[in-house]
Amino acid sequence: MAPKGENRFAYDVARDYDRGRSLPAEVLEECCRGIVEATGLRPGAMVLDAGAGTGVLAGSLVWQDYRYLGIDASPEMLRRFGWKSVDIVQGDLRRVPLVDGCIDLVVAFRVFGVVRGWRHAIRECVRALKPEAHLVAGRVARNSGSLADFIRVERNQLLREAGIATDRPGANDGEVELELSHTMEQTAGIGNVDFIVETTPRQLLDQNLSGWRISELDDGVRDRLRSRLAEIVKGRTGGLDVAVEQPAALQLDVYRRR
Ligand SMILES: C[S@@+](CC[C@H](N)C(=O)[O-])C[C@H]1O[C@@H](n2cnc3c(N)ncnc32)[C@H](O)[C@@H]1O
Repeated sequence: MAPKGENRFAYDVARDYDRGRSLPAEVLEECCRGIVEATGLRPGAMVLDAGAGTGVLAGSLVWQDYRYLGIDASPEMLRRFGWKSVDIVQGDLRRVPLVDGCIDLVVAFRVFGVVRGWRHAIRECVRALKPEAHLVAGRVARNSGSLADFIRVERNQLLREAGIATDRPGANDGEVELELSHTMEQTAGIGNVDFIVETTPRQLLDQNLSGWRISELDDGVRDRLRSRLAEIVKGRTGGLDVAVEQPAALQLDVYRRR
């Protein structure tokens, strides 16, 4: 297992990643349309997918004839990369293996929050950008009060009670914005791409028990956490296999290099 403090997107986290965290194709298409409109990206442009993971974003960029390079530190995530014929490199965003000013667009989705030394990673991404080129930071927000949010909050509470840290290893969104504001200006952006996930409480439980926060728990602790969380969730929903619709939004912030 990866030692604490290193990238935790390995083994079971990578194996389960797409099951819980892929995004609907139409959301990705709308997201890419928004990116192209907001940044004026032209076919042939060079796009760096920073922390590319399993390639959730890659497909919608590649079919539009952009040149694509995905960088990720986790070989296990890259092994599950869903697209052929694109360039992917195992590498550390804190030392992006590119010359200065060669990239037209950096996309960084769900990344800086999990990168230790995220400030270096942001500076490296900006360094790789051409002058006036763009960086788009994306994240998925669940509505507060939704079942997904309720389960996440309850899980973190149970983890804290067990003395297990739940903090992200990287930046929060305010910190990302502040760091980027040194070298980039935030533009009008794209706004949110809203969508609904049709799921069940059981699937939401599985997702909440498969991420990096719990990747280092031993099986006994994980099983106890699952039973307690399942009881709490059943108390709210009446069952684990009832159909539920969860509103979510892909939030996209666009920055231009000065
Ligand atoms: C939550 S996943 C996001 C993957 C993808 N961008 C997406 O939206 O599905 C975060 C990714 O960041 C990668 N990562 C974390 N620290 C990194 C670093 N220092 N250098 C490169 N990649 C890193 C992880 O391996 C993981 O694949």
